[in-house]
Amino acid sequence: MKRHSLFPLLISTLVAGLNLTAPPALADGDPEKGRILSEQHCSRCHVIGDFNPFGGIGSTASFQMIAKMKDAVERFQSFYARRPHPAFLTVPGVDKWSKAPAYATEFTITLEQVEDIVAFAKTLKKLPIRRTRTRGR
Ligand code: HEC
Repeated sequence: MKRHSLFPLLISTLVAGLNLTAPPALADGDPEKGRILSEQHCSRCHVIGDFNPFGGIGSTASFQMIAKMKDAVERFQSFYARRPHPAFLTVPGVDKWSKAPAYATEFTITLEQVEDIVAFAKTLKKLPIRRTRTRGR
């Protein structure tokens, strides 16, 4: 009796699986649109370049600090799925992991706008990270 090889089936299943998890192919974002979106929606918690050097929440990393990380692009591309953002952010087409009521002002952002923010974040990489003196002279 001839044995049927499951190899082609295995490969096509793997390829289909990869396709499911691949990020959607989006055009490169517009950094200027990303800047406006970031200042509008993110600056109440994050320091964003020279826009609000003494603003944001002290415990939250500034955009320029995150931008310097090795995996910065990935972090900005997926920020909407990373804590704490899903608690107050809606992205059309992306399931929320919680139905709990938002504890911060809610807003909506599209996947295309996420790419604009990524493009803007790339421009912050070269900015210095300001450190404020908290004690001493
Ligand atoms: C209500 C406050 C708040 C708002 C608004 C907010 N963030 Fe954040 N963000 C946080 C906090 C807090 C963290 C740190 C989470 C941690 O370290 O676990 C964070 C972390 C991040 C990180 C790093 C994620 C990681 O896992 O390393 C990115 C990127 C980010 N935010 C992008 C954004 C962008 C882009 C916006 C606006 C569209 C935004 N955030 C709006 C509070 C906020």
